[in-house]
Amino acid sequence: MNLQRIFSLLITACLLAAFSAAAQDGQLDLSSAGDSLYPELGSSGFDVQHYTIRLQTPMDENAITAEAIITAVATADLEQFNLDLVSLNIDNLTVNGESAEFSRSGSELMILLPQPLSAGDSFEVVIQYHGMPTPTQDPSLGARLGWNFADGLVYVVSEPDGAQTWFPANDHPSDKATFTLEITVPEGFVVAANGVLEETTTQDGQTTFRWEMRQPMATYLATVNIDRYVEFESESAEGVPLRNYLPERYSRFNDRVFGRQGEMVDYFSNIFGPYPFDAYGAVVVDQPLGFALETQTISLFGSSILMGDADDVVAHELAHQWFGNSISLEDWSDIWLNEGFASYAEWLWLEHTEGPDARDAAIAEAYGFMSGDGWQEFGLTNAQIRAELMSMGLTGSPDPDNLFNAAVYYRGGLTLHALRLVVGDDAFFEILRTYAGQYTYGNATTDDFFAIAEAISGRNLEKFKRDWLYVIQIPSIPAMRLFPPNLGDSN
Ligand code: ARG
Ligand code: ZN
Repeated sequence: MNLQRIFSLLITACLLAAFSAAAQDGQLDLSSAGDSLYPELGSSGFDVQHYTIRLQTPMDENAITAEAIITAVATADLEQFNLDLVSLNIDNLTVNGESAEFSRSGSELMILLPQPLSAGDSFEVVIQYHGMPTPTQDPSLGARLGWNFADGLVYVVSEPDGAQTWFPANDHPSDKATFTLEITVPEGFVVAANGVLEETTTQDGQTTFRWEMRQPMATYLATVNIDRYVEFESESAEGVPLRNYLPERYSRFNDRVFGRQGEMVDYFSNIFGPYPFDAYGAVVVDQPLGFALETQTISLFGSSILMGDADDVVAHELAHQWFGNSISLEDWSDIWLNEGFASYAEWLWLEHTEGPDARDAAIAEAYGFMSGDGWQEFGLTNAQIRAELMSMGLTGSPDPDNLFNAAVYYRGGLTLHALRLVVGDDAFFEILRTYAGQYTYGNATTDDFFAIAEAISGRNLEKFKRDWLYVIQIPSIPAMRLFPPNLGDSN
């Protein structure tokens, strides 16, 4: 019995987390991408280049049969590596064509390499699997994340940790990759997924849709939506291809709800820099979801979007294509870099369409809410208001069970407007364009953003950053005469 064999037997016998940590030189935790909020997400030691997911689903029950082909590069010398995968059954697993032993513990999948890898080596993992996808419970909003089968339709919303419910993944935005999604469904269903629909073939009553996502994408932005969709194709005035997918029975809503999407793409391209992907559009899921998601190249909306005016959320999800998707987080604690920017983009769209007064009114309203002003009307005492603001969490470091807190969105957006008022319009828009350009298809942190803001404005923004992102008491915006109310003792 060789050493490797003994080692692999140990795997099955030992607690897998301990095994994982001990196997390397003790520095690299293979079972974690090192996220400060969600250490259980992702892995270390390699960098995924491309996922090919070939997946078949019958649509009359919640079941998938799939094959994932993952090409990756080792970033350390490895004898084993980890992926995340929730509950599906693995039928076969090879690395570089050789069958590999693996073991599982919770959502951690540990794979023993048939041949050790050196840092820099490329490798290919092929995993055949099947089963009934089980959505995870959203740590913050209580939604069901991942592959959702409901009433004969499928939708996938995964922020932050749902991707591992339908494919084996290095499930953290710090490891982005290109994707091929090849989805086979009974004839008559339509699959709306990320990127460009390259090929549709029908055989024996089954249709396969091959979608290619050619720019890097974080795993949580991968989406597959299956229903009897009607597709609407168009193009923005500046030539960005657009395609929307609406359920047949809602198709008449397309023009009213998404009618200004093309203008928005061109406006944001003008201020942020070129639209970063091959196409854009929307998919409407025939479920009353309480949120939308900026799934890459095809933002996802629940059917509640169809009621009333949705320009703000349409603009919001579109802006994420630059801020969140093209530029991804390095750590989930910086989520304001996604949500604060997308919220601010709603106000920019308002400014563009209705003028600065409408923008300022929206900003003043958000400031009032985030400062606790006017909450007394709801019968809250000052102490209760302070406690509420406290428990909401900080813009720059939300609690893991409250990732999408209101401060991340609204105070995040206010932070950008306050910055604009401090540095002036020219510097501010140059900062946004430079940030979007410099980190295209990459990852960035709050400090990366402020380094650009300081370089372009020539100001020291250390105190500004701390006061806006990491202190409960909201700063004032003197230029708009916005000041926090006196809520008494803030200790
Ligand atoms: N990024 C989404 C947005 O644009 C938030 C989705 C949060 N929803 C959830 N169920 N986790 O606002
Ligand atoms: Zn958002």
